[in-house]
Parts: sequence; structure tokens; C-alpha cells
Amino acid sequence: MKKLFLDSSQIVTSSAKNKNYKRGKELSDLEILEEHAILCENGIIKDIIPNQSANKLIVDEKVDLKGKVVLPGLIDCHTHTAFAGSRANEFREKISGISYEEIAKRGGGINTTVTAVRNSSLTELVDLMKPRIKEFISQGVTTLEIKSGYGLDFENEIKLLHAVKIINEIFPIDIVSTFLGAHTFPNEYKNDHAAYVDLIIQKMIPHIAKNNLAAFCDGFCEATAFTASEIDIIFSSASNAGLKLKLHTEQFNNIGGLDVALKYKSSSVDHLEVLSEMDLKKFSGSETVAVLLPGVSFFLDYQFAPARKLIENDAIVSLATDYNPGSSHILNLQLIMSLAAIKMKMKIEEVINTVTINAAKSLNLEKNIGSIEIGKQADFAVFNIPDYSEIIYNVGRNLISHTIKYGEIIFRK
Ligand code: NIG
Ligand code: FE
Repeated sequence: MKKLFLDSSQIVTSSAKNKNYKRGKELSDLEILEEHAILCENGIIKDIIPNQSANKLIVDEKVDLKGKVVLPGLIDCHTHTAFAGSRANEFREKISGISYEEIAKRGGGINTTVTAVRNSSLTELVDLMKPRIKEFISQGVTTLEIKSGYGLDFENEIKLLHAVKIINEIFPIDIVSTFLGAHTFPNEYKNDHAAYVDLIIQKMIPHIAKNNLAAFCDGFCEATAFTASEIDIIFSSASNAGLKLKLHTEQFNNIGGLDVALKYKSSSVDHLEVLSEMDLKKFSGSETVAVLLPGVSFFLDYQFAPARKLIENDAIVSLATDYNPGSSHILNLQLIMSLAAIKMKMKIEEVINTVTINAAKSLNLEKNIGSIEIGKQADFAVFNIPDYSEIIYNVGRNLISHTIKYGEIIFRK
């Protein structure tokens, strides 16, 4: 099946140039192709050619994208979309001055969502996720990472990962699944952390790896969650079991998480709001992606991660929504892109690379997605604007006219 996507005003993409990510200064490299068409066959990009010659081609279908801007399909590489319940009441308390950490310390926060998840059936969890996934798709997202982390016992962590698997089968986008059993200690293990770490490494990780229920293992290294040495034990077990790694770290406190993540060559370290000056240089030779989550800083009203300094220090920077019920109840990657520009002073070209090629790198999918290049998946986010600079400028608006996955239009406005 041959398909042509014709007449867009711009195709905006990074080009691999032998490596599928952008670090440091390269982060602002973009290729802008005007008056070009994309030829796809069976879901893969076959050619990118001037409109004039494309018009003469005989294909099965032509899609007119006149006046629109085509980007690689957007990749949200860090979300907690698998949750039940609402934390609107805790948000009300936060607004009136009680901190996220205080709420967590008195057994609320993540554990409030854990109670709601434990009280939900598999079908209920799947049904709760469906409209969220539709919303992501309507916003140009073609690859989405989803973490567990609100079950925090064997049965419920597995239930969440099953729900994510079902969602992946139902929807045409690719869902990458991450095991986050080390999100926090559930209330029943509040006084026996070692026993919970044991449960993760003895029971959860082996079952998840054996049944292919997750591609990644993640954790939360934080004063209210796991210590660096507990993360070390969990990462050792996860990587031996064949899971790739990610870590929530340096969000509120700097307690050694970054070093453990780098030691295990994690695919990404996420958050980094309180990253120390000294640690900046650790990114320059590293292939671990720094995933920044400005939605969290905005939602909780605290400091933003040092994006400019990371870029100056040659880091591979990415961005994500961190969509979750407690610290970033923001299902809108385009808003996150604007926040990154406004609050972290990132250029539009940098922002685009963070949610495409570098997000792909953080999920180890950079060979297949993240740019519009021959041989990659035909995944596109089509914006109803004449020039790509409109993207971050239209704060909070959904500019998507088409979402295209494997060459199929899966959303049209
Ligand atoms: O990425 N930092 C830990 N985990 C999530 C928040 C989860 C929650 O509050 O429910 C985060 O911010
Ligand atoms: Fe998170």
C-alpha cells in the first residue's frame, strides 16, 4: 500500500547524521523542507521528494496536507496514565499551602491513588485509560510511555501492567510500558522497607520480565521514597532480568540517585529540578537522557530543572508531561512544550527535538521513530499552522489537524 502525504507547507525534522539523538548545541539543529511530499509504503517512510515530482507518482492514496506543518509523531516518554481516582482535594490543600511532600508523609499523595487503584478492577482501569489515550492521540502523540506504580503490591502492579498491555492492543499508537513498583513504600510496608524491596526483587521483577509485561524498570529516589542503595539493589535485579532502566531522581532532594542511574547506564534520568552544579558535567559523555518535566514545576509551583545548563553541558535533553494525578495533572504535551520555552528558556527548535528524536532515544526507539527519514515509521503530527514557530506561541491550544501512525490517519480534526 503506497501513500503520499502532499503539499504541506513545512516538513520539520531532525536528521540522524549517523546518530539518532541531539546533544548540547546540536539540539537546535532542525531540517525544514518546504514544498515536499512524503511517500510511505506499508507504514514506513520510503521517500521524501519535492511536491512537483511527487504529483506524478502513481500511488494507492494521496493525502492533501496543504498549508500544514508536519512533524515526526510526538512522543510522550514519561507518564503515569494508568491511575484511578482523583486527588482534587489534595490539590486544594496544596494550593492553600500544604506541600506535596507533607501530603505524602501523612500517607496521602501516591498512596491515595494506590487505594483507588486497588479498589478498581482490570476492566475499570482500562476504561479509565481509554479517554486519556484518545486525548493524547488527538494531540499528535504517536508513542506513549506509561508506568505502573500505583499498585505497590504484586497483584495490583501486575494488574496495572496488564491494563497497559490491553490498552496497547486496543489503540493504534505504540505504548511503552514501565514497571514502577519502587514508586513509594505502600502503607503496609511503611516500617519495613527491606521487606518491600525484597518483594520487588524476588517476586515482581522476575514475573514481569518472564511475562514481558514491561520494557523498563523505574524507581523514585527521594527522601520520602527510596534511598540510593535501595535503588541500587532494585536496578541490579532489574537489569539482570533484562529490563532497561529509568529513574525519577533529584526532584526535591539530591540523595545519590543520579550516580546509581548512571552506574547502570539507565536510558533516562527524569525530573532533575534540584540537580547540583557539580553533577551537570556527568551528562557530557553519557547516553543517559535527561528527561525534564516542567509540568511538575508549574503544577506544584516550584523550581524548574536547569535546562539551559544541561544543554550547555552537552546533555541529551528530552521533555515529557509526567501526566499523573498528583504532581502534573496535565494531559497536554503542547502546553509542556510552551512551558519549556517560557520557563526554561528553550528555543522552539530545541523543544521540537526533545519531544521527537530525543524522546525516542529515552525509550531506546530512536532507530525506528523520532524523525521523518527514509526507513523510519510513518508517524506524523500534522499541525494546522503555516510555520512551525507558531507551535509554542499558541500556549495551551491543540493545533493538531491529523495524527498519523504507521501511515494511517488515526485522528483528524
Ligand atoms: O513523577 N515523583 C514521583 N512520581 C510522580 C508523581 C506521582 C504522584 O504524585 O502520583 C512524578 O512526579
Ligand atoms: Fe513521574
